[in-house]
This record gives sequence, C-alpha cells and structure tokens, in this order.
Amino acid sequence: EMATKGGYPHFMLKEIYEQPESLASTVAGLEWAQLSAVADMLLSARNIYVLGAGSSYHAGLTFAARLPRLRLTPVPIIASEYYTYERLFDRDDVAIAISQSGETIDTIRAARAMRERGVKVVAVTNVVGSTLARESDVVIYTRAGPEIGVAATKTFTTQVATLSALYLAVLKAVGVDTSELERELKALPEAVRKTIENTAGTAKDLAKRMKEKRSAYYLGRGLSLPVAMEGALKLKEVAYIHAEAYPAGESKHGPIALVEEGFPVVFVFSDPDTREKTLSNVAEMKARGAYAIGVVPAKSDLAKKLDFPVEVPESGELAAPVTYVVPLQLLAYFAAVERGYDPDKPRNLAKTVTVE
Ligand code: AGP
Repeated sequence: EMATKGGYPHFMLKEIYEQPESLASTVAGLEWAQLSAVADMLLSARNIYVLGAGSSYHAGLTFAARLPRLRLTPVPIIASEYYTYERLFDRDDVAIAISQSGETIDTIRAARAMRERGVKVVAVTNVVGSTLARESDVVIYTRAGPEIGVAATKTFTTQVATLSALYLAVLKAVGVDTSELERELKALPEAVRKTIENTAGTAKDLAKRMKEKRSAYYLGRGLSLPVAMEGALKLKEVAYIHAEAYPAGESKHGPIALVEEGFPVVFVFSDPDTREKTLSNVAEMKARGAYAIGVVPAKSDLAKKLDFPVEVPESGELAAPVTYVVPLQLLAYFAAVERGYDPDKPRNLAKTVTVE
C-alpha cells in the first residue's frame, strides 16, 4: 500500500503534494477555443447558474464572486437546493455544473431539471464519460488524475484553476488585455509548489496548537470567503474539529458571542481588495481574546497583526484562491494526524454521494 502512496503516509498528503503536477496538466489541457465559446454563452445568457455540492460548490463560488466585476449576475446554487430556483430555469440560461466525480446525485438531478427547461449545462468534471459529462451540453475537463483521499484537494484546486481560466476567457471576450493573467495561470503550478514548500512546516506547528481545540472560525471577505469555506470544510472532514466559515464582516452579528480567550479564528487574506476591512475584524476578535491565525501574503506587514501568521508567496490575484487554500489543506491534514485520525478514511463520509 505504501507503494501506491508513493512513500507518503496518506493519500491526502500525497494528493496535496501532487497539486503542482495536476495543475500543470489541467492548465496545459485547457481548450481555449472551447472556453471562449463558453464565455460567449455566458455573456449572452439571461441567468447564469453556478452549481455544485461540497468542495465543488466552493470552487463555483470562487468563479461566481468574480462575475459581478463584469456586470454579470451569477446565481450560485447548492445542488441539493436547486428546487428553490426551479421556476427560474429557462432556455436563455446557462449553468456551470461542477462535480469532480460527475456522479453526485444532487448535482446530476439539478442539472437534469435545468436541461428539461432548456438551460444549457456546462459541466466541469475530472471524470471522462461520467454521468454529468454524458448529460451536459459542454464538458470542460480538469486533469487532476484519480483522487483517492475522501477529502477533495487536488480536484478542488484544478476546478478553481479551470474556472479562473474561464473567467479569463470572459475577460478576453469583452476586450480586456489578459496577457498578464495568462502568465499568472501558467506560473500557477510553480506558485503552488513554492506555497507547499514554504507553508508545510508552519501548518504542522499550527496543527499542534489546534489539536485540543473544539471549535474554530474561518473568516474572509469577498473572494477570500470561498477559500475560508473550503478550509473550514477540510478541518471538519478529516480532523473532526467543528469549524465554521463566515463572512468576516458578518461575524460580529452573532458568531463573535462564542469567542473567548484562546478561541482560534483563521483569517484568510487572499483577496487584496478586502484586506483593510478584514483587518478591522482581526482587531475585533483579538479584543475578545481570540487567537488570530492569518493566511497572509508574504513580505507584507499583515503578519504583524496576527498571533499566528502563515505566509503565502506572492502569486497574483487570479492564482490566489488556489495558493491560499493549500496551507488550509495542510493544516487539516496535520490536525487529523495529530489527533490520531486517518485522514484518508473520515467517518460518515463517502467520496461520491449517490443518494439524495
Ligand atoms: C468529500 O466529502 C468532498 N470534500 C465533498 O464535499 C465533495 O466535494 C462533494 O461531495 C461533491 O463531490 P463531487 O465534486 O464529486 O460532485
């Protein structure tokens, strides 16, 4: 079994370390003509739905959060909640349906309901010939390779990278010069390699400090929020520590009530546009005794504002939702191991959920 794990103690760690390769294959495999056709579909759509479950939904949120900059209005839909939106579905609409396995029944049922009403469904999946791939109008493949660990890691980052490429294609279609962003996308595998190298030790130290904690908040604003949501999900899934992601500004409307001396709060600073505002939440939380952890850009003065900074090498704005999630994956992994759990086989979870 050690052989299939390539010398790593767990698949989850192996798959975290495989991310530079998975991203390189995914970026190299992008079909730009296809992305540009989907970009045109999005630009002429009446409604744009962004659909997925779990980590795939979070990947979708990183895309949805960018569209308003182009005056496009996305409707993010958690797959199991699609019926709330069913009456909106119409032939002038486009859905981006995200599922690494392509077999999650909630996502398949939602996509079917959409297609029945004429919505064009664009699938983003890691599995060629999967049910979702077969039943969609267009299929964009991620090339993460097979993921054995139950918690999504490399499939998540390749989804985010693919959706970033799609966003880039939309920018291009409206006449924006994207040459700088294209360079950023090509440099993403190397940026992730550097991030793993620079943050693994720090994440392990942090896991030791988190070991006895029963609960944590993950806070972020704007594009940092889906990254925080994914980080919190990882911690719950494999380390069994209650973790709640919240929009940082909203945390004072309730969640702050739980904060007392030593309560861990993880702040995500991947979105450069919301850094100042998030800092005011750091101050608020610290005033209540919170232990303020922050995933922050390296070489900035943000580290000084936190009790425990994790510094991420600069990779650019397009790449940030990918690079900033990496130390959060590592934290969840090491916290699971510290607490004596097998991160590859979390209790109660299945890799692919085929019941509604
Ligand atoms: C494992 O529990 C995953 N992290 C889970 O949230 C997963 O992302 C979700 O079940 C969706 O799976 P899919 O991408 O295969 O549709």
